[in-house]
Amino acid sequence: MGARKIPRSQAHSALPRLAQHGVSRRSFMRVGLASAGALSAMGSPWLALAGQGGGRGGGGRGEIPDAVRMGDLTCAPAYVDLGDGRLRGVLAYNGKFPGPTWVVWTGDTVKSTLWNRLNEPTITHWHGLHVDPANDGGPRLAIGPGQSYDYSFPIVQRASLNFYHPHPHMLTGKQVCLGLAGAFIIRDKEEDALNLPKHPYEVPLVIRDASFDSQGNLLYNPTSSGFAGKFPLVNGKLKLKMNVNQGVYRFRVLNGANARVFKLALSNGAAFTVIGNDGGLLATPVNGVTQIELGMGERLDLLVDFSALGAGQSVMLRCLSARWDLLQFVGTGETGIAYSAPTTLSTIKPLVGPSQPTRTFSFDGMSRINGLRYDMERIDFRVPFGVVERWRFKTGGNAPHPVHVHGASFQVVSRTGGRAKVFDWERGWKDTVLLNDKEVVDVLIRFDAYKGLYLIHCHQLEHEDMGMMSNFEVVDAQTGSLGISPFTSTR
Ligand code: C2O
Ligand code: CU
Ligand code: CU
Repeated sequence: MGARKIPRSQAHSALPRLAQHGVSRRSFMRVGLASAGALSAMGSPWLALAGQGGGRGGGGRGEIPDAVRMGDLTCAPAYVDLGDGRLRGVLAYNGKFPGPTWVVWTGDTVKSTLWNRLNEPTITHWHGLHVDPANDGGPRLAIGPGQSYDYSFPIVQRASLNFYHPHPHMLTGKQVCLGLAGAFIIRDKEEDALNLPKHPYEVPLVIRDASFDSQGNLLYNPTSSGFAGKFPLVNGKLKLKMNVNQGVYRFRVLNGANARVFKLALSNGAAFTVIGNDGGLLATPVNGVTQIELGMGERLDLLVDFSALGAGQSVMLRCLSARWDLLQFVGTGETGIAYSAPTTLSTIKPLVGPSQPTRTFSFDGMSRINGLRYDMERIDFRVPFGVVERWRFKTGGNAPHPVHVHGASFQVVSRTGGRAKVFDWERGWKDTVLLNDKEVVDVLIRFDAYKGLYLIHCHQLEHEDMGMMSNFEVVDAQTGSLGISPFTSTR
């Protein structure tokens, strides 16, 4: 078929010595559940844990993961039950697949230590969070096996659903695919005042695809067009079923796939009400949405009303493009909660910026932006702090390219060519926008949280690993960047 494997990572040898970023990095001293020697065996990382139990990822059908307070993270191989009663090897955060769903509040200070118990470098990025570069988990901050990384950052943004996952150069696709990913919820007073459905009526849904090796362990076997898993997983489960009462549910949906865009719909044609996306609440709810496309790394906040679903009746959440059933909702016949979204959810101040692009990014082939492959040591452009710029994303092909920016959210202002519109659910604040072939997408963006080094990249993870990623630096608007050490981070 001509499909070629992407090159095996050379990250071990290619990793430069890490610059210090004012965040302490202490060496691994605790005694792990498996010896470092066992874990460093090449090949299948799960063999090392055979017979030791490993972490069981909870399980059971219909289980609704409740969010928990932020804590430390350990990346390690684990065995989990994907819902069919069989233990399968994955890479897991804290033994869970997906990782624990964190919840924090705006104004909190998050402290978390990441422990690397893999046999290769890793680092965790908080996709969607506005944090300083030392806490952003970019590839330059990767830590080796046995090492740890201390994160400490304030939550300076509004309520939203975010996504944490590894970001080591050339290993992101593999590590995410093998299981390292989780949801990260920020709450705030504005959202709280809306009295939206709460647990168990608020349900995170991390959707992705997966393939298995002959032992049933998660398998990463990408081709040059990206990883295409054979089965859908929702919250780390195959054929997930969820019992629903007759009422309204709030689904916090995250596309955690490496390279698959989902087109979500309900099997009975019922509509979603979209109340939020990557950057939190929309200004107004979007009612009557019967199908919705969700690119890799994008998020949606959906209300679904099951009040007409009788006991024993069921509805499927489907992906229309893959023709997959993702999740089965089964009616209990019990009374749920009534909720109708207010006509105004939030006030979103439109960014005011240039009508012509400040910069244009061409997502070329499968591995380049503006003709360049990612180089960890090269800064491709500098952006003035606090200034609204208009960024234009275009492509010569090989899309979908979900374009993702670290360090700030943006507002999508236009899409020409292809689907030729900005969908209502792409309004508000986004950090990832889907760019299809023949499309040109313009966004307005302003970096007003931190200065320093950030990334723009394609969130098709194989494209990212092959180099469709670029370093840029946010610098003081007045003094410019000359003479500033490329990797300094300043508040
Ligand atoms: Cu979700 Cu730079 O990544
Ligand atoms: Cu990100
Ligand atoms: Cu791409």
